[in-house]
Amino acid sequence: MEALHLILLFLVSLTVVHSLNPNCGLPSQGSTLRVYHVSSPCSPFRPKTTLSWEESVLQMQADDKTRLVYLTSLVAGRSFVPIGSGRQIIQSPTYIVKANIGTPAQSLLMALDTSTDMALVPCAGCVGCSSSTFDSTKSVSFSSLACGADQCKQVQSSSCLGTTCSLNMTYGGSTVAANLAQDNLTLATDSVIGYSFSCIKNVAGGSFPPQGVLGLGRGPLSFVSQSKSLYSSTFSYCLPSFKSSNFSGTLRLGLNGQPKNIKFTPLLVNPRRTSLYYVNLIGIRVGSKVVNIPPGAFAFNPNTGGGTIIDSGTVFTRLVDAAYTAVRDEFRRRMGKAVVSSLGGFDTCYTVPIGRHVPTMTFMFPGLNMSLPQDNFLIHSSSGSTTCLAMSASPALNVIANMQQQNHRVLFDIPNSRLGISREICS
Ligand SMILES: *[C@@H]1O[C@H](CO)[C@@H](O)[C@H](O)[C@H]1NC(C)=O
Ligand SMILES: *[C@@H]1O[C@H](CO)[C@@H](O)[C@H](O)[C@H]1NC(C)=O
Ligand SMILES: *[C@@H]1O[C@H](CO)[C@@H](O)[C@H](O)[C@H]1NC(C)=O
Ligand SMILES: *[C@@H]1O[C@H](CO)[C@@H](O)[C@H](O)[C@H]1NC(C)=O
Repeated sequence: MEALHLILLFLVSLTVVHSLNPNCGLPSQGSTLRVYHVSSPCSPFRPKTTLSWEESVLQMQADDKTRLVYLTSLVAGRSFVPIGSGRQIIQSPTYIVKANIGTPAQSLLMALDTSTDMALVPCAGCVGCSSSTFDSTKSVSFSSLACGADQCKQVQSSSCLGTTCSLNMTYGGSTVAANLAQDNLTLATDSVIGYSFSCIKNVAGGSFPPQGVLGLGRGPLSFVSQSKSLYSSTFSYCLPSFKSSNFSGTLRLGLNGQPKNIKFTPLLVNPRRTSLYYVNLIGIRVGSKVVNIPPGAFAFNPNTGGGTIIDSGTVFTRLVDAAYTAVRDEFRRRMGKAVVSSLGGFDTCYTVPIGRHVPTMTFMFPGLNMSLPQDNFLIHSSSGSTTCLAMSASPALNVIANMQQQNHRVLFDIPNSRLGISREICS
């Protein structure tokens, strides 16, 4: 199988150091993907005005909050989600892959979303999309999908518009109207011929990723399923630290090049929400102490949707109240007498240096322990004067978010229904 050359964009809108030039034009090599921070000089989504650190954090929390409502709605089934904060520049998901669609190829930088199935592509003429769209009239391999198509029947909310299969849906805080279509999708060299996706004709709500979404969920219409013959429903990624000046990470598709020495934990399937990657979080350790958390806080319950998912699109980890409170209290205890303040949705911030007291934090799963260094759960202001525990409480669902995944190889082995995690520095 040929190696893939992908470009990932790290979308978290933190303020970054702009003095280093990451050489934006550099082509990707082999299976090494280039990842940029959203604010980096290479990013087309770089904010026009530089946000202060506090503004960036509040921005990300607002994005996460909308996403949590969205993820919870996925869990609950088909419900309409209220439109969230208008302050958002870019709605998470937070990583973007360079995808080529059509013949000849047109390039889009699509957000990777492990909690979504079908790709959502802004098509030419779309009302409410950004200026980067896919023009189907310029592709000789494009076709619309008719109402009778199998793919149309797989979409719950589809209906017939003339003879074309169409649908309305919500994404984060946005509402999307689209037609189902097919065209070749190419990530670097391998083409998925006749890839089915949603060709967006209308977006409202302002929080939609500007160049669309590539769904990496495991439902029938996701990239993972449609590229099964190429990539055996197996992929892994390593997300770089947002503090890295390089911001390069890797996404690997298929069995080749996946780590051999990696520990696995089973993936759980929620029959009511088949695209989400549920795992069995069984405990959290702060330092060497396993925090006393009521077992119900982590319980997987397909009926209510409760449990823990791993998600590429949420920035900060969310834990249900009882778990969050217990973890936070133990963390605060370790910080001794340092005075606690809050920032937006974070309730455990310090304005004094705390570095030497900070314990590691370990997420425990059957089969593997994911030990997090400070950088994966603390967020520091650029001046270093404020540090917050970058987690917060959630009403129903535990979400292992991308900040906690940074500098780890996360391997989704769907045929064997297991998730691998190992430490890998890719910043
Ligand atoms: C796209 O698919 C068609 C078949 O539908 C094929 O003839 C064409 O070569 C493909 N184009 C690319 C760029 O892979
Ligand atoms: C989608 O929404 C549009 C406008 O909001 C409406 O006209 C259309 O009937 C809806 N289609 C479906 C399938 O619900
Ligand atoms: C950035 O990556 C290049 C290789 O792509 C490496 O040579 C360089 O040392 C890295 N710089 C930093 C600051 O990590
Ligand atoms: C994870 O850590 C706990 C102790 O905190 C230990 O009992 C358990 O065996 C570890 N699991 C693995 C898979 O290493």
